[in-house]
Amino acid sequence: MNRRNAIKRLGALAAAAAIGSTGLVGASGMITENKGFMKILAINGSSRKHGNTGDMIDVVLSELSELGHTVERIDFAGHTINPCKACFACAGKRNCVFSDDIFREVYERMTEADVIIIGSPTYSADVSSTIKAVIERASVVSDTNPGMFRHKIGAGIVVGRRAGTMNALDTINRFFLNKEMFVAGSTYWNIAYGRLPGEALNDAEGVATMRNLGKNIAWLLSRLA
Ligand SMILES: Cc1cc2nc3c(=O)[nH]c(=O)nc-3n(C[C@H](O)[C@H](O)[C@H](O)COP(=O)(O)O)c2cc1C
Repeated sequence: MNRRNAIKRLGALAAAAAIGSTGLVGASGMITENKGFMKILAINGSSRKHGNTGDMIDVVLSELSELGHTVERIDFAGHTINPCKACFACAGKRNCVFSDDIFREVYERMTEADVIIIGSPTYSADVSSTIKAVIERASVVSDTNPGMFRHKIGAGIVVGRRAGTMNALDTINRFFLNKEMFVAGSTYWNIAYGRLPGEALNDAEGVATMRNLGKNIAWLLSRLA
């Protein structure tokens, strides 16, 4: 089965179309009128927009969009996100003061979301540098403006070729836990394996883990709403 059919089979194609998985553009198209549903933001930290990380995110999002939740995916591919400058000028301002990349917009979307999904490929046995930069800057902004992520749900998703996936997932989970968030898990660690684009869709256990992660996030949402 080719990659496109595999995604179709998973029901993820509909979700991808719905969420406008083309970066920041198109994200606003997903806002629904139904105020009973929750906002799910997924960040794709891969340098490949159409890679394994995006595919696994879409599997999780499809479970949530099927239930009517508002889902949005932001792809970092093609973007540079600068590191924290450690100026602490964000104190009291509820966002970073620097506008020379997409961070401020990403941070705003994170604070608006009920659920934050951070997806990363494994790069050098950890998260990608764009995800690390977001974690660094979001940590400082929320530390100097306490409570901005309090009681949100967080879920990390990691793909890798062979090794370092757990370390990357730990990096993401530590961010969530340090920000008073509830971390969603699945039947196994939220990890899938693949090297080339599309390969993670062949990881049956990884895909099943992502599907169940989506269901568990939905369950948590129904209890916290
Ligand atoms: C710069 C770079 C570093 C990588 N380092 C690792 C690694 O340490 N461990 C690993 O298992 N895979 C590593 N990989 C492989 C990717 O994690 C793997 O190809 C993954 O599927 C990429 O996800 P994507 O398709 O969303 O880009 C690396 C890939 C790149 C480009």
